[in-house]
Parts: sequence; C-alpha cells; structure tokens
Amino acid sequence: MIYTKFHKNAGILGKNDRISGYLQHELESFMMDREEILKRIDAKYRAMDQNPDVHLEGLSWSNPITYWDYILPDALLGLQVQRTDQPDEMVFIMYHQINELLFKMILWEIDQVSNKALVEAAFFTEKLRRISRYFDMLSSSFSIMGDGMEREQYMKFRNTLTPASGFQSAQYRLIEFASTELINLIDFRFRAKIDRNTSYEHAYEHLYWQAAGKDHATGRKNALLSNFEKRYKAEFLRKMEGYNQTNLWTKFQQLPEDVKSDAGLVAAMRHYDYTVNVTWVMAHYHAAGKYLGEAAATGGSDWRKYMHPKYQRRIFFPGLWSADELANWGEGV
Ligand code: HEM
Repeated sequence: MIYTKFHKNAGILGKNDRISGYLQHELESFMMDREEILKRIDAKYRAMDQNPDVHLEGLSWSNPITYWDYILPDALLGLQVQRTDQPDEMVFIMYHQINELLFKMILWEIDQVSNKALVEAAFFTEKLRRISRYFDMLSSSFSIMGDGMEREQYMKFRNTLTPASGFQSAQYRLIEFASTELINLIDFRFRAKIDRNTSYEHAYEHLYWQAAGKDHATGRKNALLSNFEKRYKAEFLRKMEGYNQTNLWTKFQQLPEDVKSDAGLVAAMRHYDYTVNVTWVMAHYHAAGKYLGEAAATGGSDWRKYMHPKYQRRIFFPGLWSADELANWGEGV
C-alpha cells in the first residue's frame, strides 16, 4: 500500500515541478506513514538489542527480490533424480513430491490449530476447510498416478525401488497423529488392550501400519518397516506425545456445544475423514491394483488386505459417524 503510494508520487513528481494540493496531501500522508514505519523499525530492533540504523543501512545495500530468489524454482526443479532411463519414472517421482508438498501444507494448517491454546470456532472451521481442500486435491489428482504411466515402464523402474514404498512417507504419518487420538490409529485387533495409561512405545508397536511389515506373533519386522523406524521412530514418539492433546479431533471436542453441532462444520469434518480414509485410500488401492495385479509390492506388504479401508478401519472422527456407518466402514466402495 505504502509502496504503491510511494511509486505513484515518485512518478508524478518526476514529470511535474509543481505539486498540486492533492499530491501535497498524499505526500504528507506518505511521509507520516514513513515516520510511523521508521518508529516501528526502531522499536523492533531496539527490543532485540540491535542498532536499527545498522539494519536500515543494510537495507540500502540489499538486492531487490526476484521470483527465482524467493520461490527457488532452480532448487526445486533440481530435485528429480531418476534411477532408470524410463521416462515415466519422472511422473512417479514428481507426483510423489507434489504429494509431499501438499502434506506439508496440510500439516502447516493443522499445526496452527494445534499450537493455539484457545481455538475459536471460525478459526477452526477455516483451517479445517483448507486442510480438506488440500486432501481433496490429492484424491482427485490420483488419476495422474492411476492413468498416467505406462505399466510396462512402471514394472521396469519399480524393481529399482525395492524395498522402499510411499508407506515410508513420514509426513503422511504425522498427518495421522495430528488428526486424531492415538487410539483411533491402533490396529483394530489390539484396541481393547490399549488405553491412555499405555506407554507411547507400546502404543507405537501396535499402530495399525505395523501390520504392513511386522509379524505380530514373532515381533519380526521387514526391511520396509525397520528402515522407516531407524530414520523416524524417535521423531514419531515425540510427535505422538505432542499431538496427544492437540490433535484435530481433541480440539474439535473442546469447542462449545453449539459449534460442535454446527451442521456445516460437522459435514466438513466428516468430509475430511472420508476423503483421507476412504476416497484417497481407494484411489491409491485401485492404482496399486492396476500396476501390480497379483505382483508383490515393493514394500512387501500383503497390500490387498492391508490397504483396504474395510480391514484397516482407520477413522479419525469416530464420534461423527452413526453406529451403522462405523460398522460398514469401507464396505461397497
Ligand atoms: C502407481 C503408484 C503407486 C503404487 C503402485 C503404490 C503402491 C503401494 C503399496 C502396495 C503400498 C503398501 C505398502 C507396500 O507394501 O509397499 C503403498 C503404501 C502407501 N503408499 Fe503407495 N503406491 C503408489 C503411489 C503412491 C503415492 C503417489 C503416494 C503419495 C505419497 C503413496 C503413498 C503411500 C502411503 C502413504 C502408503 C501407506 C498407506 C497406509 O499405511 O495405509 N503411494 N503404496
């Protein structure tokens, strides 16, 4: 705003010697703005025990910002490294990266809700709408994977990826921890034995996704899971604790009664839950079916069983679904 005014004045002043009354007034208001700005800069740096003049001096030398310095396309576009010469591997890499960027956007919004002690209804609703829109984008775009690669090429480059899998996306797991209470992420078979007094370590060992790589009878873990844990387990345990009281479901339940029963908000919550845990899962499941057929997954899970929502029964906001809806979760999809 001030910047625009400055330019407008500067341009006209350059062309005309006489300053009209209107311009004089504009200029004065600009000058006042500038004084105000200088006062603020002064206060800001003094509060940091810094000399404001040094910072202003630095500003007079700093380069003007450009798109490429700010958005960093050169760095971003240098992050796609193929392991084979199959062109469709690029589609695979880039679409995964797009997913990771959107996961980051989702966590960014959730964390604003999590980090706020007293969340007002309007704030919660706005953030939830944003989060939901981002996940809608992930679901509706999954055909980029499902329809967008030649199976022949996929079957060639996939072998170079064993034993890695999208399963090892840490941000995906963080979105789960940030969205709901831990009990809703525990393998359905063990839920009755786990409660709030269970240690995080014990809960972690019974998360539903352990089923993709752990033989519960022997405790043995495959490479997919043990590699993932070596890299992220410590962070996951910290985050499980961090989101324990600050996840979306807990925050929603703390809202005033009239807000919690607001039809629009309830619909948005249910939509998010269904998008993440059924719509996206099924788009992913069908893509896996198309490429893998009866072949084994790179991560090595019993994926047809593991990934289907009717077995997985991952539901973020169980209190917003009827008994019937819960009983039939993932059926007929
Ligand atoms: C043709 C493309 C894809 C195929 C064939 C595929 C296949 C699979 C399979 C079989 C699994 C089960 C674990 C395993 O044994 O590997 C899995 C898990 C997973 N994949 Fe993919 N995937 C594809 C694309 C993607 C994309 C684009 C993402 C986005 C990041 C993704 C994220 C995940 C996640 C988060 C899991 C774990 C899901 C859960 O635990 O419920 N996948 N994928």
